Amino acid sequence: MTHSETTPSFYGLFTVFLSLALLLPSTQTIAESWDAPEAVIELPPTSLAQWYKPENKRQVFLHTMFRLRQSLQAVEIYSQKGDQQQLDKWATILQENYAKLPEMVPEWKDETRQETVKKLLAYAKNGDSKKLAKSIKQLNKICEGCHQQWKAVVTALYRSPDYSKLSVNEGQESHSYSDFMEDLADTLGVLKIAREDEELETARQTVTKLGKQLDHLSNSCSDCHRDPQPRERILGSATKDSLNALHSALNKPHDAKESGRHLGTVGFTVCGRCHSIHRTLGDIRGALKAE
Ligand code: HEC
Ligand code: HEC
Ligand code: HEC
Repeated sequence: MTHSETTPSFYGLFTVFLSLALLLPSTQTIAESWDAPEAVIELPPTSLAQWYKPENKRQVFLHTMFRLRQSLQAVEIYSQKGDQQQLDKWATILQENYAKLPEMVPEWKDETRQETVKKLLAYAKNGDSKKLAKSIKQLNKICEGCHQQWKAVVTALYRSPDYSKLSVNEGQESHSYSDFMEDLADTLGVLKIAREDEELETARQTVTKLGKQLDHLSNSCSDCHRDPQPRERILGSATKDSLNALHSALNKPHDAKESGRHLGTVGFTVCGRCHSIHRTLGDIRGALKAE
């Protein structure tokens, strides 16, 4: 779908915005010296925001999508069965939900090609199964075309977790997530250096400090997770065991192979695992939102 045909200024503006972001002086020198290929990502219309949290209580746009898939599937099923009454019902639901798309996002009015679904409904009602099958195919192509262009970027922008407003509390002190993460990385760095340089006393103290910091961090999980399992998986008893084993391995005589193994486990299961779930989408969202 070529959205620039219908709303050139709108998308042009965003494209320019993004190109500018990619070409700001500091980035420009880096990009040039690396001879990096450039990708321009078009951003979806901002009218979408009102159909997602936090502007909306529900993920309205996404739920409309689920309803579209369900009703389209029902149309196919009842058309094959020859159940005219159900076919009527579901083709109507399909058409009504499809008509909501340009109501929600006026910028996408032309691209959704409403006439395709109106025809589909007419063929469903008069039982013309051949033409109906053809309309279904056409509609599927429209769905796929829009998804190819917009789905990933919309998910990243509107449904990725946002850490910018969260804080981690250490006693009286409150840190932003990203400041707290820098502190964690510093602690891990001190631990690594002390271990390598056989400063065992410092290394052991730093393991204890890391354990405490992770306890503080674990209080933030419930900001998003109501169930205890996610926290247990990353910061639960297995992690406590690894930290204890690491602490013991850092006693004299130092078994560097053993302490290295436990340190690796902590880095991988705590920092690595949590990042692979939470950080990547958040980073993409951040990059898309930065002007
Ligand atoms: C104008 C653009 C557009 C059209 C047309 C469109 N979609 Fe979507 N659809 C999206 C976007 C954007 C998302 C991502 C929403 C999100 O992640 O919150 C999406 C997501 C979905 C999802 C959920 C994601 C998944 O893969 O599980 C389903 C199901 C879906 N669409 C079905 C349909 C069907 C069926 C049609 C055609 C009848 C359709 N869509 C037409 C834009 C569109
Ligand atoms: C800003 C919100 C947010 C915070 C804070 C957060 N998570 Fe998540 N987490 C998510 C989202 C979104 C997913 C993916 C969807 C899902 O599974 O709920 C997820 C998924 C997970 C998963 C994989 C799915 C599962 O249930 O096993 C684990 C494990 C997890 N988080 C652990 C944690 C831990 C541990 C913390 C605290 C240190 C934490 N999360 C803090 C948003 C958050
Ligand atoms: C909730 C699970 C979670 C755990 C456990 C975790 N991180 Fe993070 N980390 C994140 C998230 C989310 C971000 C992105 C924060 C943001 O976007 O503001 C992040 C970002 C970072 C950053 C970049 C900081 C910045 O400026 O944004 C560093 C460095 C970091 N983490 C180090 C670590 C280290 C080291 C550990 C292990 C000792 C660790 N993290 C454990 C979730 C986690």
